Amino acid sequence: MVLSVYLLALTFIWTGMASKFVVSPCDPHLFDDCLSDFNRSMESSGYRESCPWPTAKRNYDLLKTCVDDWATATICRGHGSPKDDIFLAVHKTYFKRCEKFQDPPPTTLAALIAPGVVVTLFMPIVFAHLATRNAYRLDSPGL
Ligand SMILES: *[C@@H]1O[C@H](CO)[C@@H](O)[C@H](O)[C@H]1NC(C)=O
Repeated sequence: MVLSVYLLALTFIWTGMASKFVVSPCDPHLFDDCLSDFNRSMESSGYRESCPWPTAKRNYDLLKTCVDDWATATICRGHGSPKDDIFLAVHKTYFKRCEKFQDPPPTTLAALIAPGVVVTLFMPIVFAHLATRNAYRLDSPGL
C-alpha cells in the first residue's frame, strides 16, 4: 500500500501532473459572472470599429474589482492564476484597436538615425583633417 502510494506520487511528479495540482487550485469559470457582465456591457461599445477607451473605463474598473474580489475570496491568486488569462483575453478581444504606440514610419526613423550615422562616419575624417593641419603648423614654424 505504502509502496503504491509512493509510486503514484512519483509518477505524478515525473509526468509534471503534481505541479498542475499545486499551481492551479482554482476554477477558470470562477470569474464567469464578472466576465459575462463585462462582455454584455462591451457589446454596445463599438469595440469592433474603434478603440472603446476611455468610454469603457468604468466597466473595466468594475470587471477588475469583481475579479479581484473573487480572487481574494478564493485562493485563486498569484502566478498562473486564470486572472492573467482573463485580462489577456479581454484586452485581445475588446482593446486590440487601442494600440496607439506603433512604430513611426520609416522616413521618420531614417531622419532620427541619419544624423548619428553621418556624425559617426565623418568623425574620423574631421579629426584626421584637424590632426594633420595642426601637425603641418607645428612642423613648419618658419612659414
Ligand atoms: C467574455 O469575453 C472574453 C473575451 O473575449 C472571453 O474570453 C470570455 O470567455 C467571455 N466570457 C463570458 C462569460 O462570456
